[in-house]
Order: sequence, then C-alpha cells, then structure tokens
Amino acid sequence: MRASEAQQADSAPAQGESRAPVRADQAPQTEARDRFDRESPARASDSSRAMQEREQGDRRVPPAEQQGQQGRMQVPVETRTVSQQSRTPEPPAVEMPPDDDFAWFDDLPSHPGTEARGEAPEPPSIQTLDWDALSERVAACERCRLCEKRTNTVFGVGDRNADWMLIGEAPGENEDRLGEPFVGQAGKLLDNMLRSLTLARDTNVYIANVIKCRPPGNRNPEPDEVARCEPYLQRQVALVKPKLIVALGRFAAQSLLETDASISSLRGRVHEYEGVPVIVTYHPAYLLRSLSDKAKAWADLCLARDTWLAAGGVPSNAAK
Ligand code: URA
Repeated sequence: MRASEAQQADSAPAQGESRAPVRADQAPQTEARDRFDRESPARASDSSRAMQEREQGDRRVPPAEQQGQQGRMQVPVETRTVSQQSRTPEPPAVEMPPDDDFAWFDDLPSHPGTEARGEAPEPPSIQTLDWDALSERVAACERCRLCEKRTNTVFGVGDRNADWMLIGEAPGENEDRLGEPFVGQAGKLLDNMLRSLTLARDTNVYIANVIKCRPPGNRNPEPDEVARCEPYLQRQVALVKPKLIVALGRFAAQSLLETDASISSLRGRVHEYEGVPVIVTYHPAYLLRSLSDKAKAWADLCLARDTWLAAGGVPSNAAK
C-alpha cells in the first residue's frame, strides 16, 4: 500500500495533501518552452532579434585575426564597429531582387521535412488512437522515468463499453507483475463491493488507473508523472464513454478533479471529469485497514448508482 492509500481518514489530512496535482499543461519546462518557442510570434521575433545580434557579433573580427592584425589596428577591439571592420564590401543595392519579386522565395522550403532530416515522423496523437493502438502505445511508453523500473505496464481491464468506469491510483507490486489493475487484496475487496451492485470487472465495469506504471517502492506518483500519463486515461475515458466514473481514493480524486481538497470534502457530491459525472470514494486498500469507513464507502456507491440511473443507466444493463 502506498502512503496516499493509507492516509485517507477524514480527520487526518494525508501526507502531501496540499500537493496540487499537475496537468498535462504543466509538463516539464523544456517541453513547454519548446512549444512556446514554436507558437509564440512575440517570442519568435525575440529569437530573430537575437539571431541578428548574433550575426552582427559574428561579423566582429575573431580574436585570432585580431591578434594577427595587432600593430596595424588603429581602433581598440571593443570599440570597433561593424562598418569599420568590414572586409567584404556590401554588394551594391542594384544587385538585390526588386522589392516585390518574391517568386524565388516560394521555391524554398522554410524547413526541411522530418523525412528530409532523416527523422521518424511524429506518431499520431494519443487522442486519435483506437483501443489496440492505445494499448500498444502504453505498453511501449517511455514518457516518464517510471518506465525504467516497471515489469509491466497496467493498461486497464474490463468491458470497454461499460457504463461504469472505476479509476484508481497506480499499479502496486502485484499489478506490476501481472499487468492488471487491482489484483491484490484491495482488488478482492473492490470486486466484492462491485458485486453488491451487480457489477463485475469482466462484464459491466472498466477499471483503470491514473498512472500506468508502478512507482518504485509504491511511492506516490510525482506530478510530472501524472501529467505525462494523463492523456492515456483521457483517451480511455473517451473510448469507453462511461455514464459514471468512480474515483477510488484521494490521489485519483485529486488528479481527476484537479484539486488538493481532502477526500472527505470531495465525497457525497457529484463532480465531473471530461464531461462525465464523478463520484469520489475511499480507496479499497484504505478500507482494508479502516473498517469503520466501509459504511461511508457503501453510501458513496449508493450515490454512484443513483447518479448512474440519473445519467440514463438502465438497471437491466447492470449485468450486460
Ligand atoms: N491501487 C491502485 O490504485 N491501483 C491498482 O491497480 C492497485 C492498487
């Protein structure tokens, strides 16, 4: 069990509860900066200004040349201007193409294409992938450091057309070994809870985690790991199109709802993720240790069922 599962009691704020979950738009700074560089005209003009300045700097005489010219130079190096040091006269203005003749410009590609540069083409966006392509992308994922220590990625399991989608935190040791979510003791309790609602993972529920790889030593996932992994979950939600999401535990709830509010303040009402109603309840691993909160979890599941019905869920559908 990881710290976030163990520390969900209403009275005691969990460790790191003040940590605000990070979204994809908070990905590492370099990537954000690259994107900014590509997209921001203001920034682009800054870069071209910088480039002009660099070019002007390049026109200054390199130090070796300066040394070779010592004795002949009348002007101290630091104060020499471009015009004073220019050895190649500027071409006369008459050799320039007429101002309005840009035909030559159209023929030049502004950038060589990725293929011309010998690079692999960009893979399609995660948000366009179908189930097979998405699970393959996750299996090969190296978007964050968690890929280094995992045994298996844990994609998700269950009915891909389910009305109910349950979302946990991240794989633990057993899940990492077997490649399936919630296969340990917490998973057994979860299956029992589902059965009481005539739900089952292999018939009418889809189960996934916010994070697809096990954090080493079951530590809490880092914000950048959440940000890197979230597009996969977003795509899973888009493909399943559930009528209801149940967030299992503080970490899943905070990540989905982009909040650092306590689980006790999030329970008991309907939230939303990607347009789907969300009910928050305790993580089953926490319930294994805190039997007194099982009654509250049952109340959460009843609210989930009511919410599902209100969203058009058909009870006979429960065993589809
Ligand atoms: N805890 C989770 O949140 N997910 C799992 O898959 C297993 C344990």
